[in-house]
Amino acid sequence: MAIIEPQFQKVFEWIADSVKKPALFEKDAVLFWDDPYISEQLLAAHLTPEFDGASRTLATIERTVANLTRSTLLKPGDRVLDLGCGPGLYSSSFSQFGIHMTGIDLSKRSIEYAQRKAQEQELRIAYVHGNFFDMNYDGRFDSVLQIYGELCTFPDEERDRLLRMVHKALKKDGLFIFDVSTRELRKREGLKNRWQFSDGGFWHSGKYVVLEQGFDYPEYDTWVDQYTIIQEDGECRKYHMWFHDYSLQTISEVLARHGFKIARRWNGLTGEEYKDGGDWIALAAQKI
Ligand SMILES: C[S@@+](CC[C@H](N)C(=O)[O-])C[C@H]1O[C@@H](n2cnc3c(N)ncnc32)[C@H](O)[C@@H]1O
Repeated sequence: MAIIEPQFQKVFEWIADSVKKPALFEKDAVLFWDDPYISEQLLAAHLTPEFDGASRTLATIERTVANLTRSTLLKPGDRVLDLGCGPGLYSSSFSQFGIHMTGIDLSKRSIEYAQRKAQEQELRIAYVHGNFFDMNYDGRFDSVLQIYGELCTFPDEERDRLLRMVHKALKKDGLFIFDVSTRELRKREGLKNRWQFSDGGFWHSGKYVVLEQGFDYPEYDTWVDQYTIIQEDGECRKYHMWFHDYSLQTISEVLARHGFKIARRWNGLTGEEYKDGGDWIALAAQKI
């Protein structure tokens, strides 16, 4: 029998593992949002006006703010909580409109940027560096926002816990305004099997290869994008981006179970008229 070098065996296992389907909503052993290096790349992505990831494009941010303010869902003087506010691109626009904003985000780098910007622009926004699963607000907000599909990233028990917290944080008749992706988007955008080499990029400052593989869990309307990063310095890390996609029916059922009724619906937070078969469902759900 041939003698196999342990280093070769290790790399072989990393590669073989990269195409193995993980358990549903398996957690990562490594930080993502608050990783010191990755959060720097993410902040740069948020601040690239034409980039549609991270915060969406600047044009989309402006249209979203216009939709939610012109429709008077958000009004000057309202108290609004922005869950996963990132670097505050939405919160600062709403604040300029006279809305009292509170923003929570896990990324220290994004929150520090948001705080710096608010100071420069003389905006009074309460930015909190933390996990929104640790919040404990009671009947305080006119609206809670969660922008860019964050609700899709949690397993059902965590999503339900978050919805209970949001319900509690809202005043009577308050609104939870958020968007979820649909299976239509996922079938097109879910990762396909692909390898890439980088001389230093999003995942690591040195040389690495990233092995990308998507897996479908059709019985749970869930998909995972799995990234295996193999670095030249001999480290390997694995990241999972989970997406539980919804239809209008499945998200309506979840909301009803948590004491919300749908007040407005669109195909995006920018306010496109709702039609079945779109990539996104955006909702203003009212506390009942
Ligand atoms: C796709 S980004 C969207 C950011 C922001 N809503 C926007 O559209 O500009 C998701 C954000 O949620 C934050 N996030 C994810 N999980 C979180 C958690 N458990 N608590 C607080 N923030 C979280 C991330 O740090 C990230 O900034």
